[in-house]
This record gives sequence, C-alpha cells and structure tokens, in this order.
Amino acid sequence: MHVCAMSRRNITGLTWSVFSRLVGANRLGRRRHDLSRGLCTQEPLDLKELFMRHLTTRIKANGPLTVAEYMKEVLINPVTLIGIWCVYEWQQMGKPDKLQIVELGPGRGTLAADMMRVFSQFQEFNKAVTLHLVEVSPKMIQLQSQALTGSTTPDDTVAEYQSQKTKFGPDVHWHRFLDQVPKERSCFIAHEFFDVLPIYKFQKKDGEWNEVMVDIQEGGGLRFIMSRGPTTNAKAFLTHMTDSDERDHVEVSPESGNLVQKMSQRISDHGGRAMIIDYGHDGTKTDTFRGFKDHKLYDPLQNPGSADLTADVDFAYLKHCCGDKVKTFGPVTQNNFLNGMGIGVRLQVLLKNADDKTRKALLESVKRLMHPQEMGDAFKFLAIAPKDVDYVPPGFTPMTAHTEQKS
Ligand SMILES: C[S@@+](CC[C@H](N)C(=O)[O-])C[C@H]1O[C@@H](n2cnc3c(N)ncnc32)[C@H](O)[C@@H]1O
Repeated sequence: MHVCAMSRRNITGLTWSVFSRLVGANRLGRRRHDLSRGLCTQEPLDLKELFMRHLTTRIKANGPLTVAEYMKEVLINPVTLIGIWCVYEWQQMGKPDKLQIVELGPGRGTLAADMMRVFSQFQEFNKAVTLHLVEVSPKMIQLQSQALTGSTTPDDTVAEYQSQKTKFGPDVHWHRFLDQVPKERSCFIAHEFFDVLPIYKFQKKDGEWNEVMVDIQEGGGLRFIMSRGPTTNAKAFLTHMTDSDERDHVEVSPESGNLVQKMSQRISDHGGRAMIIDYGHDGTKTDTFRGFKDHKLYDPLQNPGSADLTADVDFAYLKHCCGDKVKTFGPVTQNNFLNGMGIGVRLQVLLKNADDKTRKALLESVKRLMHPQEMGDAFKFLAIAPKDVDYVPPGFTPMTAHTEQKS
C-alpha cells in the first residue's frame, strides 16, 4: 500500500510554556552527557540559548525578522523545534563529529529542508551532519531533491537513490530501505510516516482472534468480512497482547514494528536518537483505519486508490518492539511536547507586544496546535535513546494537565 495521507497533514506545531520546567530539565541534561560514546569538551548550550543562537544567526545573515516571520520561525513552526531538539541531543551525545540525520518517508522533503535550514545556523553541528532519506517512491525522491537542492528542472534532480549536495551544505543520500543506511550514529526522524504503513486488523469472537479481511460485496463493491477462526497472521502478529488488554478489535503494523526494532538495535549499537511523531494512541484504540479525500473522511473501501489510507499509530506496540536494549520516552501529546519545549514563554512575550489582530492570530494558531480537541492530544511524540541516557530529553517530561493559553 503506498499512500500519503496529506489531507490531514499539518506539520507538528510547538509552543512555549512552563519554561522553568524546561530549564530544570536542561540543567540536569547539562550535567549528563553520553560520555561513554561522547567526546564532550565544552558545556552544551541549553534550549533557550540554542533558540537565541538560531534566531541571531538568521537575523545577522538576512536582517531583522517581521513578527510574522518570527512566529513562523519559533512559534508556529514545529520543525524548528524538532531541528533544535536534534542539535540539543547531539550536544548531549558529546558533540560527535559525525551524525546521520535519517528521515523515514520524507514526503515532499519539506520537513527535511526546514530542518536543514535550522541546522545550517549551527556551524559545528552542520559540519557533522549527513542527511539520509529512506523513500520508496521515485516521484517523491524528485520532489525531495528539489526541496533540498533548489533545482527546478527534472533534469537537475537526483537520479534514483543517488547522493547530492544540499543547498544547506551537508550531503543527502537516498535509500530504498533502512537496511541500506550506513550503520553509524544516527538521529532517526519519522514524521507522519508510520500511520501510512500497512496494518492487519483482528477482531475477537468467542474468545478467539479472527482476522478482518476485504472481500467482494454481492452486487459489486467491497466489504469487510471476518475470517472463520484465527488466521496465521492472528497467530503471528498478536504475541504482544497482554491479558489485561480489554480490546476486542486491534490493528497491528508488523512493518512498523520491524522498522522500530531495527532503529533500536542501531541506537543501541552505534548511539543516537529517534523521534517518532504521528497521530496515534498508547495501545487503547481499536478501529482507526480510514480514508481521507479532499480533507474529509472517506470510506476506505470506496473507489480504491482515490483516497489516502491511514491508521493511528499504536505507540504501545512500537515501544514493545523497541525491546530492552534502549530507553523510550513518551509517547507524550503534542501539547506536552510543545509546553516542554517552552512555547508558553515565547507566546507571552509575543502577546505582550502584539496588536489586537496579531494577538488573535497568535492565539488561534496556538489553539490549533495545543488544544486537546484540535492537534494537542491526537498528535504524539515518542523518543528512543541508548540505555545509558539518564535524563529526560526536552519535551518528554510528562505533564499532567493541558496548559491552555489565555488571552
Ligand atoms: C505521509 S508521507 C510523509 C510526510 C512527511 N514525512 C511529512 O512530514 O511531511 C509518507 C511518505 O512515506 C513514503 N513511504 C511510504 N511507505 C514507505 C516505506 N515502506 N518505506 C519508505 N518510505 C515510504 C511515501 O512515499 C511518502 O514519501
């Protein structure tokens, strides 16, 4: 199944609050590096300093920012925060002189290009970085190549699975499979990737797991049916289910589990981090398989091929697949992550200096990103780190209540 559920895609957004919490986390982080792998010589910058560095470098290069640009750069562009998260974690690793940024399923390459733009403002980090994109679609590779190199004609774009120099400095390499990415220290990023990977569906009947399958409907069209009794897939793919799990309908993506297992093994063997960002749940949801067409829900069995197909990511299953060789953090909600990255403080500063129209726009965009009924709850973040990491990466300290921004 090759689908790209762009219709609901809305690149993660990050906001600031609870800055004291953030600073606390950083202080702890500053004391503790991955010294076993690291080459730590200098005190790393905390998040606040990293943001400041990012902004001042940009202003020095291009002149003052408009408020709109500032918002885009530091408030409503989550990619900036993901990029800064990578730089922060690289510092915690002891600033190794080589780090692969590996993005799974980069879509149009927008996130990769935006992250590279952030990286280019941190010279030492940018020198250490190579970009590795894992992509199945040659058409998408062309778009990614355009986004990363600035080339505009198809002739200039990359031939399948070759390498190029990005306009941001570091080289970019394309791979068909994760297995082809060199086994070196990597920071893996998967943003709205796992929710498009194929799932198997199972439903419990008379105490047994049967498989939900797609069959032909009498009179034409397609319909879901249930197998008579457990299938081989039901026997093979439900071994992670525990007795306490009360669901009678589950969806499993073994391909996702396999990829997460491989990333974890690599992180354990070679160091690095992973950040998985997606619509999902912590092993609680049942029937989430659906289609999206023209930004609206669409019957996944109607007009096959015309809608994007997607299923929420089961983060509990992914965590199970990580095994015990690594540590996982989260999943936390987007609201949690954005708050943990300190969005509230920046918002307050912006609000103080904004006119009424800007205030309204700011509060609306933050609401969209943070409110539980918008993207705040459904969008989740999971981090993977080596076992010896003994601090909580920024954004992943669990928070109990939602921090809603008041006008
Ligand atoms: C929904 S889009 C991702 C969007 C992108 N990450 C973003 O944040 O904008 C899914 C991407 O994953 C790619 N893809 C789908 N299945 C894949 C697989 N098994 N391995 C690698 N890439 C895959 C698609 O071609 C597409 O580029």
